[in-house]
Amino acid sequence: MNWKNKKVLVTGGAGQIGSNLVLSLLEKGAVVSVVDNLWRGQKSNLYKDGVPLIDMDKKFYELDLMNYENCLKVVEGQDLIYHLADVVAGINYVFGNQFSLFNSNLLIDSNMLKAAVSKGISDYIYVGTACSYPADKQSKLNPPPFKEPDVYPAMPESSYGWSKLMGEYACELIQQEKLMNIGLLRFHNVYGPHCVMDPEKSQVIPSLIRKAINFPNEEFIVWGTGNQRRAFVFVDDIISALVSVAEKGMNHGAIQIGPSFSTSIAEIAQTVIDISGKNIPLRFDVTKPEGDMDRAADWTKAKEILAWSPEISIEKGVEITYQWCDQYLSDNN
Ligand SMILES: NC(=O)c1ccc[n+]([C@@H]2O[C@H](COP(=O)([O-])OP(=O)(O)OC[C@H]3O[C@@H](n4cnc5c(N)ncnc54)[C@H](O)[C@@H]3O)[C@@H](O)[C@H]2O)c1
Repeated sequence: MNWKNKKVLVTGGAGQIGSNLVLSLLEKGAVVSVVDNLWRGQKSNLYKDGVPLIDMDKKFYELDLMNYENCLKVVEGQDLIYHLADVVAGINYVFGNQFSLFNSNLLIDSNMLKAAVSKGISDYIYVGTACSYPADKQSKLNPPPFKEPDVYPAMPESSYGWSKLMGEYACELIQQEKLMNIGLLRFHNVYGPHCVMDPEKSQVIPSLIRKAINFPNEEFIVWGTGNQRRAFVFVDDIISALVSVAEKGMNHGAIQIGPSFSTSIAEIAQTVIDISGKNIPLRFDVTKPEGDMDRAADWTKAKEILAWSPEISIEKGVEITYQWCDQYLSDNN
């Protein structure tokens, strides 16, 4: 596939995954535009060493994709769309805002799809989540790694999982009706540089890192028992999958991206403490939500179709993320 001068739109491109993708696409020679309402994304993610990655006046649109007219405006003339914008946040936000989150994501996803079809866009990539797998299949420790069809019969634990599954389903209908070429990835828990650290919206790894960096001024408390496990995947491994799906994974249905093993939150917390070099006691607050118990990915399909495999170990990934967060907090305090 020739990326040179390809016009690519990244929705949610100021976010964690989107901004890392933008950098990678620019390196390949694509002409990249970004739309983001900055609900969780940050313009600073689109700068490297103080220099903007894209022309922030002409190629960055600060717009809300819940508005259909805005979607029509940004999709116009694009060769390929990576639709990554959605409301995504940590467990507290997700369970505290179930309806508004569901409603927002349905609006964003359906507006974007309709706009892309109506403007004759040929290639469209959407990303689902492992949170869409049924709650009862991940309620105990050591379930077999999920295969893609395990997402049905559907019963996700959260409205976030439901909303993202609806997004996948809508894309499958578009593909069946041959209205666009569809690339569909389903990510497990993503972490890495350009993550969000604020207490209201952050996910578990950046949240633990922030607490360790701020300790003892901020308490280091792990939410839940710490026994809950996730298949964490470093953002660089996500970017390689996003590039590969455009090159060789279109119209293959959902492809799951994540490792075949899970790591407990207590293990992550200990890794973060070790990296900090501080003497931090490991404490848990079992009154806080901890979500699904355990899940991992059977990534055979990703290997076969995308030649994808996870490359970055959890220890290395957390170390890189810690250094990025440390720098970010010292620059912004
Ligand atoms: N982070 C994960 O663990 C994970 C796992 C599975 C799937 N995903 C999916 O990957 C995508 C990117 O996630 P991320 O981790 O980079 O999160 P992120 O929050 O960093 O990126 C999402 C971006 O969408 C933007 N956005 C939200 N609502 C918007 C709106 N109404 N209009 C325009 N922009 C809006 C946010 O400001 C943010 O920059 C999302 O679709 C998410 O559901 C993420």
